[in-house]
Amino acid sequence: MPVILGIESSCDETSASVCVNGEILSNVIANQTIHEAYGGVVPELASRVHQQNIVPAVQQALLNAKVSKNDVDAVAFTRGPGLLGSLLVGVSFAKAFALAKNLPLIDINHMQAHILAHFIGYHKPVFPFLCLTVSGGHTQIVLVKDYFDMEVIGQTLDDAAGEAMDKTSKILGLPYPGGPLIDKYARKGNADAYKFPEPQIPGLDFSFSGLKTSILYFIRDNVAKNPDFISQNLPDICASVEKRIATILLNKLQKAAQEYGIKQIALAGGVSANTGLRLGLQELCAKNGWESFIPKMEYCTDNAAMIAIAGYYKYLKGEFAGQETAPLARMPF
Ligand code: KG4
Ligand code: ZN
Repeated sequence: MPVILGIESSCDETSASVCVNGEILSNVIANQTIHEAYGGVVPELASRVHQQNIVPAVQQALLNAKVSKNDVDAVAFTRGPGLLGSLLVGVSFAKAFALAKNLPLIDINHMQAHILAHFIGYHKPVFPFLCLTVSGGHTQIVLVKDYFDMEVIGQTLDDAAGEAMDKTSKILGLPYPGGPLIDKYARKGNADAYKFPEPQIPGLDFSFSGLKTSILYFIRDNVAKNPDFISQNLPDICASVEKRIATILLNKLQKAAQEYGIKQIALAGGVSANTGLRLGLQELCAKNGWESFIPKMEYCTDNAAMIAIAGYYKYLKGEFAGQETAPLARMPF
């Protein structure tokens, strides 16, 4: 019955989780509101807030799970990819905890962990499956062959899908992170009100920078004609942008599923919290007779439960990391 303590600090969420024998017993997430005023995460501020939050987050995770720190068998932590200063806080905490308690360390790739979040609970996909991993920094279609055997078969050539959401919201004058706000306003809007272009990128890759520019010009031209254009049409703009981003993602996912003959399709990463994308994937799968896997909301955006569950599977394989392990801002699979 291994007890794994998971630590996540790659961006602006400080999170700790306890996993006992593959079951998540707690998942504490401390969000940082300090970045709202800046239109994006300020790395130096993020690491300072991680330092304040890490000890209380771990204490609360142990308390919620009714587990003593003496019961922990291994400490799993996000090694990368992410902001180096932020990662450093979680990595240093994990090392110190492991050293103090003489425990093994398990290093985890954050993007793999987003995918392995599907192994929390009972509705688990069967290998091989496809996963669309969409976050603030990544947009990937991943062929998942085994827990730690994953191949990126398509990815963005420029901006990530979450970045497209966040940059659009910035153009609209909304605070960071914009994705959840676009989602909120889109629910009250007409998704066919405005048509934004679909980029013609060959293969399974994506591009979002052209879309961002077309949204910028569209807003600029309309505001020049009517200064109240944004406030009068916010739901329709958000619904139309969300629909375009979701269709770009889902069209490539459909292409990948057909090319690889795979019928189990999963979503992961922060943007998988998006209502339009979740509904779109369910529709696509129903139409094609495929099975969709959509994480619970708390496991979509950054969380330590996904680190703890990934740690559990690495623990079973007996793959541990040394005290010399350094965080990595970039970390391919
Ligand atoms: O995975 P994540 O929490 O952090 C990274 O690893 O980047 O993803 C954050 C991204 C942000 O771009 C945020 O705007 C987006 O996920 N996001 C959403 C929603 N919730 C979070 N985008 C659209 N709709 C949402 N409901
Ligand atoms: Zn993430």
